[in-house]
Amino acid sequence: MSFTHILLDRSEGVATLTFNRPDKLNAMNPEMTGELRQALEEVSQDATIRVLVFRGQGRAFMAGADVRTFLGATPLTIRRFIQRAHDFLFRLETLNIPVIAAVHGFALGAGFEIALACDFIYASEEVKLGLPEINLGLFPGAGGSQRLTRLVGKSMAKEIIMTGRMVDAQEARAAGIVAQVFPEDKLWEETLKTAQSLAQKGRVALAAAKQAIDRGANVDLRSGCALEVDLFALCFASSDPQEGVKAFLEKRPPVFKGEME
Ligand code: COA
Repeated sequence: MSFTHILLDRSEGVATLTFNRPDKLNAMNPEMTGELRQALEEVSQDATIRVLVFRGQGRAFMAGADVRTFLGATPLTIRRFIQRAHDFLFRLETLNIPVIAAVHGFALGAGFEIALACDFIYASEEVKLGLPEINLGLFPGAGGSQRLTRLVGKSMAKEIIMTGRMVDAQEARAAGIVAQVFPEDKLWEETLKTAQSLAQKGRVALAAAKQAIDRGANVDLRSGCALEVDLFALCFASSDPQEGVKAFLEKRPPVFKGEME
């Protein structure tokens, strides 16, 4: 299917989803939300896709929800819009392949919130991250008040959300919000390098690691470790661990199939 507000490319096991409203700094409107949901379904049903990457066209990753959506909105219309955004983000967060956000320029509001629902964020040195909704008489409504808090703790999340200020790459790296920072002209190359490397790893092990971390983060340590025991054992339902260990002993690169056998 072709899209208007986003682009979906697939190459060598890596799907790239590009926000494509550059003249509006990729501000997300209801049409874009619908297209994102559709694209995510396509990606999830394509067994050749091993990694998903998000990026933005033009000078921003995304400057948030399109504020025009809020003009004349009622609690019920806005509830539907925001609930759909949450449905999309939970679907994204539980996708069983790694998802990387490559953020540059502005990653504000919903843009930051989408990045927070990805497995990790690579950022350009000039990035500005923020949740400026407070300046519109609002607060983050697409998971920002929840996912940012779980990442950086209540105090810093409240300071960022209540002031609406922008966070630069250096601070975001120090706070653990972004995994790595690159010069702007190297961001895409480095992101693709990581994505292609992940595409060669065992998909069962990647999915198990993702689940162990995400589901484990919301439970006590003993329950999280019990989850790890089960998911570790489940990896042996795939031929990948046999191949990985044999390849190591034979001093050759592994060729993972990623199937459960
Ligand atoms: N919704 C709708 N349109 C937006 C937008 C948003 N969230 N963010 C940017 N745009 C549009 C601008 O209206 C402008 O459109 P125009 O050329 O038709 O006037 C275009 O994108 C470029 O933005 P502009 O403000 O001119 O760029 P800038 O470099 O001066 O400022 C920002 C960049 C990101 C600081 C500024 O656009 C901004 O504050 N955006 C809103 C951020 C926000 O509040 N996000 C949360 C929304 S819930």
